[in-house]
Amino acid sequence: MSLLDDLHWRYAAKHLNGTPVPQADVDYIVEAARMAPSSSGLQPFQVLVIRNADLIAQLSHCVYGNQQLQNCSPLLVFAAWDDYTEERVNEFFSRQNAERNLPDSVTDAYRTRLLEHVLHAGETENHHHAAKQAFLSAMCAMMAAAERRIDCTPMEGFEADKVDAILNLRAQGLRSTLLLPLGYRDEHNDWLLHMKKVRRSDDTFAIRLD
Ligand SMILES: Cc1cc2nc3c(=O)[nH]c(=O)nc-3n(C[C@H](O)[C@H](O)[C@H](O)COP(=O)(O)O)c2cc1C
Repeated sequence: MSLLDDLHWRYAAKHLNGTPVPQADVDYIVEAARMAPSSSGLQPFQVLVIRNADLIAQLSHCVYGNQQLQNCSPLLVFAAWDDYTEERVNEFFSRQNAERNLPDSVTDAYRTRLLEHVLHAGETENHHHAAKQAFLSAMCAMMAAAERRIDCTPMEGFEADKVDAILNLRAQGLRSTLLLPLGYRDEHNDWLLHMKKVRRSDDTFAIRLD
């Protein structure tokens, strides 16, 4: 099976059948998310892996009536940093340099330029930038899930303030940006399962400049 086979197999499941995803598969999916690239390598987000049924039940009231959370296990929540701070940026470079056995002086010029930029950009822009990195990580998780024939639905349609409150994210400097319920498609009740996958044609999608 190729990556393209996996991408054709997957779809944004609307109903899951309640079978929990084995821990080894969840670990594989989370590892794929962890290995995603991110701008400057900062990984400015956390992934919450929620198996707790009570918490998932509470969160299922925050998705405007969508069904996916009701039968998922686990639910992944991608929560992006609310802002880039000097402390967060410095922690990353110190850790990177320590792991590479390099002195901090090696990255000081780059780190200083980056800090100037993010401290000037402000919280809203910084959070959006962090959220974009979280989305890339979520895509890696989705591809890993598809490879193992595990379903998931990326969900932006949720009441973020409520999710943040239930998970106490704001106190941790985080804001929920994407929900990713994991599970297995409900072959009997998912109206989307047999619908054609619709994408723009290659000639209207790719702009080739030869
Ligand atoms: C960032 C993002 C947010 C999405 N939010 C939702 C959502 O809140 N609820 C939902 O049912 N599907 C959601 N989707 C699924 C898309 O509707 C779906 O991926 C798209 O229609 C293409 O269909 P396919 O994934 O089944 O191929 C989202 C997808 C992405 C990438």
